[in-house]
Amino acid sequence: MKITVVGAGGNVGSTVALTIAQRDFAKEVVAVDLEIKKDDKSFFPSKGRALDQWQTAPILNFDTRVTGTVSYEDTANSDICVITAGLPRRPGMSRDDLLSANMGIVKSVTENLVKYSKDTIIVVVSNPLDLMTYVAWKASGLPASKVVGMAGILDTARYRAFLAEELNLSPKDIQALILGGHGDSMVPLPRYTTVSGIPVSHFIGEEKLNAIIERTKSGGGELVGLMGTSAWYAPGAAAAQMVEAIALDQNRVFPCAAYLDGEFGLKDLYVGVPVLLGKGGVKQIIEIDLDEQEKALLHESADHVRKGLEDLKRLS
Ligand code: NAI
Ligand code: 2OP
Repeated sequence: MKITVVGAGGNVGSTVALTIAQRDFAKEVVAVDLEIKKDDKSFFPSKGRALDQWQTAPILNFDTRVTGTVSYEDTANSDICVITAGLPRRPGMSRDDLLSANMGIVKSVTENLVKYSKDTIIVVVSNPLDLMTYVAWKASGLPASKVVGMAGILDTARYRAFLAEELNLSPKDIQALILGGHGDSMVPLPRYTTVSGIPVSHFIGEEKLNAIIERTKSGGGELVGLMGTSAWYAPGAAAAQMVEAIALDQNRVFPCAAYLDGEFGLKDLYVGVPVLLGKGGVKQIIEIDLDEQEKALLHESADHVRKGLEDLKRLS
């Protein structure tokens, strides 16, 4: 199993690469990034971080060989590719502000990847996520089931972590689902939130739960405010979890940005929905039952993504 991570000289990409290596299910991880020129010197962050990561192997006990490169030839015949290349958010920026900068990057990265790995599976992380996944799908020429975006696992993990903290319970026992676009219009579903199968309403009142939902929706922004750039540990772990599910054919059910062709009454866009993830990528979109309010919120969120798609088409 060969896995490529593009943008791996940066925060999210390097976390994805190291997490995959530590899980020890892949033969190799190829870390790609740009050559950076500064003060008449050349720097190779992907090579540096990969070397540093490989040197943790004897300590952390893994065999996965991590190598860094600036050349796509080294990515040839990758089973799975993760795209984290692109600009992150800075304070005051929304994910949508990244659109014009990142669309060109994601398009060219995808074209380079499929040139050398014609039948790969692509996991997109770059923002704005739902739009960049669409860009990668179009640029790849791959079936939509082989191009999938990471956001729902991260958003749901934030929600689960906030709930665990409030309830003083293990985050492992909190199951939840967030649908919709990766932005402030995301749709957490209290009806699908449980503690080991027990409805969350048994443990928490509506007012406190709503406060947690609001904190979750702006969870990415909270971290940008604290760090001056966006998060990487949870995003990196989330993308690695998707890669592992595909690589090991685990048949996991995760919220991911998937291409919809009529499911949930939505068509021709990528947006967060529950999917069955395993060998070959998205095996199924799980069309759960939504009540009228949940459906309306999902469509509102999808409308926001659709507006972004119109901007994308105008800018292309
Ligand atoms: P970063 O700036 O630390 O890393 C990005 C890397 O991409 C840099 O090393 C840069 O050199 C590289 N890069 C830029 N253009 C490239 C190209 N053409 N080819 C190869 N590499 C290229 O940024 P960070 O924090 O790692 O974020 C990466 C992206 O992931 C951002 O767009 C960010 O908004 C997004 N993100 C998405 C999340 C999600 O839930 N989907 C969560 C967190 C971040
Ligand atoms: C996040 O949610 C910025 O999308 C990134 O942390």
